[in-house]
Amino acid sequence: MLNKLDVSKNYFQQEELDMRMAEPFRIKMVEPIKMIPREERERALIEAGYNPFLLKAEDVYIDLLTDSGTGAMSDNQWAGLMLGDESYAGSKNYYNLVQSVKDIIGYNYTIPTHQGRGAEQVLFPLLIQKGQYILGNMHFDTTKAHIELSGGRAVNFVTERAFQTTVPFDFKGNFDCEKMESFIKEKGVESIGFILITITCNSSGGQPVSMENMREVSAIGKKYGIRVFIDAARFAENAYFIKQREKGYENKSIAEIIKEQFSYGEGFTMSAKKDALVNIGGILALKDDEELYTKARSMAVPMEGFPTYGGLAGRDMEALARGLREGTDEDYLAYRIGQVEYLGKRLTEGGVPIQTPTGGHAVFVDAKKMLPHISAGQFPAQSLANELYLEAGVRAVEIGSFLLGRDPETGVQCESPMELLRLTIPRRTYTNNHMDVVADALIAIKERAHTLQGYEFTYEPQILRHFTARLVPTWK
Ligand code: F0G
Repeated sequence: MLNKLDVSKNYFQQEELDMRMAEPFRIKMVEPIKMIPREERERALIEAGYNPFLLKAEDVYIDLLTDSGTGAMSDNQWAGLMLGDESYAGSKNYYNLVQSVKDIIGYNYTIPTHQGRGAEQVLFPLLIQKGQYILGNMHFDTTKAHIELSGGRAVNFVTERAFQTTVPFDFKGNFDCEKMESFIKEKGVESIGFILITITCNSSGGQPVSMENMREVSAIGKKYGIRVFIDAARFAENAYFIKQREKGYENKSIAEIIKEQFSYGEGFTMSAKKDALVNIGGILALKDDEELYTKARSMAVPMEGFPTYGGLAGRDMEALARGLREGTDEDYLAYRIGQVEYLGKRLTEGGVPIQTPTGGHAVFVDAKKMLPHISAGQFPAQSLANELYLEAGVRAVEIGSFLLGRDPETGVQCESPMELLRLTIPRRTYTNNHMDVVADALIAIKERAHTLQGYEFTYEPQILRHFTARLVPTWK
């Protein structure tokens, strides 16, 4: 019994014990991990060109590079894998997936894709005319790349409050609707391709978009005859935040909130590797536009595969059809968001500056605040990522000027409005003991933050450089 524990030993506060909710699952299979010795980590980092993307995964102790495809599937999903119908066309697992989308989201037309970017590459060329603007709260980087490959221009209208990391605001993924509407008026409706609402907003810190804001964006779309789509990778986490934070939704079910969210779009692209709890997969779905669906189906064939498998095995579609349902379970979501919050709380208590409040899938450390002596062009969050690996074998990822790159016209390094280190938490994979290791390491680093160095390139690829670039500390 939790409340019979001897708290006089000060292990925990009584209040925290009473509030504590353990994981809503038990563990049936484990994957061993180990921390290699410090000298080996130093060698591994040099070999990786001081770029954690280039580390071997087995040299990493706790891997917080991404929450994409890195979560654990349930016994129910693994059982589903055994029921894979590998027919080329019309697999029964495809129909199960279509049914899950109908039941949970309420859309009629579903095309599976190999992952989120697969859905983007099928849909975007059908919607964008050369030179058109695609308006978003904050487009994810592959999404921006697919907009540009289709001849469009990606523009972000996320609220300014997202950039004030230490000032809490419940919905830092919201659009600044006034700013977006002025832009539409200034450029003219015909120059706008469509509006894309990313829920949650990954790039601003896994931050939610409120229902009120989605409603307003949808109204602007209607007013000007601009189509609205949703980037739905973390749709369930967004719904959970709405239930927790938005007035009028506290007594609604997650299922109801999800349906309302999707009522404000006419289609979505989804990386199913996040909230749909699979290691691989994506979805392109449309509410009721049969004409667009017909075009997308034809486009899917050369890009992804026949539209009833879209680059996935039958078994993968089955795991996805089941994961989509599991990922919307309220106990699961409470545990999931609770774990991210736990790490955020430990860091805040330890004086490490983070994007506040914590988001859905990650804690974002404000490296600009933590390492003010390192300029944007010497990548403070990359420096922090490398130090964190050396300290505790933890791999995190830079979301700042290193990722942003150079202005394609002038070649000048762009300065990101935020220099963040993303500690991305895979779903159902690590325990809070792992979170403690991460927090302790960052708190220790904070004490010597002023001694950390900036970085410069020894190899800089022209496109999406952050994946393969090689660096050295500026003093080497
Ligand atoms: N949209 C958002 C909001 C994403 O976060 C991602 C992927 C994608 C689209 C693309 O989906 O990877 O399945 O092709 N985000 C991962 C991340 C890679 O680490 O944040 P994908």
